[in-house]
Amino acid sequence: MTAPPSMNALPSSSYLDQDEAVAARFQRIYERPVRLKVDNLRKDFQNNGATRTVFDKLSFNIHRREFVTVIGPSGCGKSTFLRIVAGLDEASGGEIQLDGHPVGGPGPDRGMVFQGYTLFPWLTVKRNVMFGLEMSGKAKSTAESEAGLWLEMVGLRKFENAYPHELSGGMKQRVAIARALANEPRVLIMDEPFGALDAQTRAQMQNYLLQIWRKVDVTILFITHDLDEACYLSDRILVLGANPGRVVEFIENPVPRPRSPAQFSSPSFVALKNRIEELIHPPVEIEEQQLPLVRLTEAGDDVE
Ligand SMILES: Nc1ncnc2c1ncn2[C@@H]1O[C@H](COP(=O)(O)OP(=O)(O)OP(=O)(O)O)[C@@H](O)[C@H]1O
Ligand SMILES: [Mg+2]
Repeated sequence: MTAPPSMNALPSSSYLDQDEAVAARFQRIYERPVRLKVDNLRKDFQNNGATRTVFDKLSFNIHRREFVTVIGPSGCGKSTFLRIVAGLDEASGGEIQLDGHPVGGPGPDRGMVFQGYTLFPWLTVKRNVMFGLEMSGKAKSTAESEAGLWLEMVGLRKFENAYPHELSGGMKQRVAIARALANEPRVLIMDEPFGALDAQTRAQMQNYLLQIWRKVDVTILFITHDLDEACYLSDRILVLGANPGRVVEFIENPVPRPRSPAQFSSPSFVALKNRIEELIHPPVEIEEQQLPLVRLTEAGDDVE
């Protein structure tokens, strides 16, 4: 891949520079089977008789155990895209295949975690995780022991008999992750799952998620508005544009794994973040607005 002309001028790291280990990792990822094949996907919504295309011509492959984050301006169709992957919404054109089969409705091969806490408040933590397992026909005793293992994995075994209202926001999302993973989905769909958490809990959750993802055979599709989060978690970043939504760039993350917060200021991290920033917030000329000349302080009492 050659750098676009604007990037050649940069003296230090470019987001396109990959060290050998990162390049080899991408090679291995692309050799893995395609888990999700998105082919010319389009979504229209009808509004007062008019058709509005939310996104069009989305085409890409996502591989087994890849971690893909989706980033783009509000309204470009990120959630709609994930809802179609989940089978909760229908495409207007094109197709998504999961392991070679067209996605129809929802199925246990896809798990979801949203921003809002979606646990059943009347069930204990363990019962929440058991719920999907029992729904899929597992005996209560099997569901119980499997739920215990998943709670162990997210570090919440001690809280298995607590109710959701007794947990912090981060703990609730860990239960939601355990519940989504308990059905052993092939794809974990996460729509701004940490968006409602404070910065410190969010950072912890990102580390939990990376630890879990290393141990489980699951492909993750993760929406975020937070560029640091996208750069920290992902293998690739799908940058979408708006009106209509489209793929602007599907970026290979040059930051080596395993990741640690110390990398936030590394040249590759900064170069990647700058590139995404440039794509989603292209520079615009802002004219300084002249405010009306009314003053509420004494003349001479200036702040500068
Ligand atoms: N059921 C619906 N009917 C009509 N329009 C819809 C429907 N669902 C979503 N839209 C429209 O589709 C567009 C994309 O919505 P979507 O929620 O996918 O955006 P998003 O990229 O997830 O935005 P955000 O970053 O704010 O979450 C928006 O303009 C929205 O108003
Ligand atoms: Mg959304």
